[in-house]
Amino acid sequence: MLTSGGDCQALNATMRGVAKSLYKMFEDVEIVGFEDGYKGLMYADYHIMKSSDFSGILTKGGTILGTSRQPFKLMRTPDENGLDKVEAMKHTYRKLKLECLVVLGGNGSQKTANLLREEGLNVVSLPKTIDNDLWGTDMTFGFQSAIDVATNAIDCIHTTAASHGRVFIVEVMGHKVGWLTLYAGIAGGADIILLPEIPYDPDVVVNAIRERTRQGKRFSILAVAEGAISKEDAALSKKELREKKKNQIVYPSVAYEIGAQITEKTGQEVRVTVPGHMQRGGEPCPYDRVLATRLGAAAANLIKEKKYGYMVAMKNGEITEVPLEEVAGRLKTVDPNCAMIREAKMVGISFGDE
Ligand code: F6P
Repeated sequence: MLTSGGDCQALNATMRGVAKSLYKMFEDVEIVGFEDGYKGLMYADYHIMKSSDFSGILTKGGTILGTSRQPFKLMRTPDENGLDKVEAMKHTYRKLKLECLVVLGGNGSQKTANLLREEGLNVVSLPKTIDNDLWGTDMTFGFQSAIDVATNAIDCIHTTAASHGRVFIVEVMGHKVGWLTLYAGIAGGADIILLPEIPYDPDVVVNAIRERTRQGKRFSILAVAEGAISKEDAALSKKELREKKKNQIVYPSVAYEIGAQITEKTGQEVRVTVPGHMQRGGEPCPYDRVLATRLGAAAANLIKEKKYGYMVAMKNGEITEVPLEEVAGRLKTVDPNCAMIREAKMVGISFGDE
């Protein structure tokens, strides 16, 4: 078993779900825990786990196994000592005579899981990420807990924003997708939500702020995804964008860039808050604990049935499984025309596009 990529809430709860189910199903099951994700499998850093390791961890954030990022695109590149990473992982797996590999991971980790499946290993994976961007599942564990943290940040900003009459920007994680910002933005009552999937026009953003001022509202709150992009930049190729950025002020992140644009166009004071990795920290929320337990039990079932090469998933409220080859390399993004965006617009939230 291993946890791979960025951590999130409910990793431990999910491992507990798998382990507790397996211990009940088989008398002689032995679980090997690999340290720091695929790295542990590559360099044979592991320990045999005891059933007591999985007790008392339902509510514990982080991962008891540790994790690391091992980029998929470098999997076929030997390490600094010339080690073939894929062969090394296969070697550890075979040396330990494993029945299967249980991977808890996000996008990159699912791609590696699929690669190992193609290389002949028995793999079962579970959908982890606060970004909720995994193809094939409606929900990933970690997402709901991260929404709580990001929403709480916006809630806190609300009171201070009201006192000072300023424009506030809360930058929300989510990598290249806007799920977390969309949910936290709506839940936190943000006035403007900017997502990577809906490139924004700075003038539209500024008009939305001016309109609020005209209505006598003293403050405006923007929930901005870390991957938000302007219409102008979205129309450029990667190369053109790199060239453009070379000749621009370098901002710490997109929220600061948007903040500077707002100040320049309106003269209003803007403050930026970046909750950052807080969004991945702390206890999993009850929803995630339940999801983790259900997904964990489902993964154990797949192992019992020797049904390998799948990621367990949640679809329409039901726990199911999807072939890893379908999941690998596909992102689940926010559809700009979905009902949720339409409804948010109906209550007056601006997405900076129209
Ligand atoms: O994928 C989870 C995530 O928290 C993203 O939302 C964010 O872009 C990224 O990881 C941050 O990665 P790191 O922890 O490596 O800085």
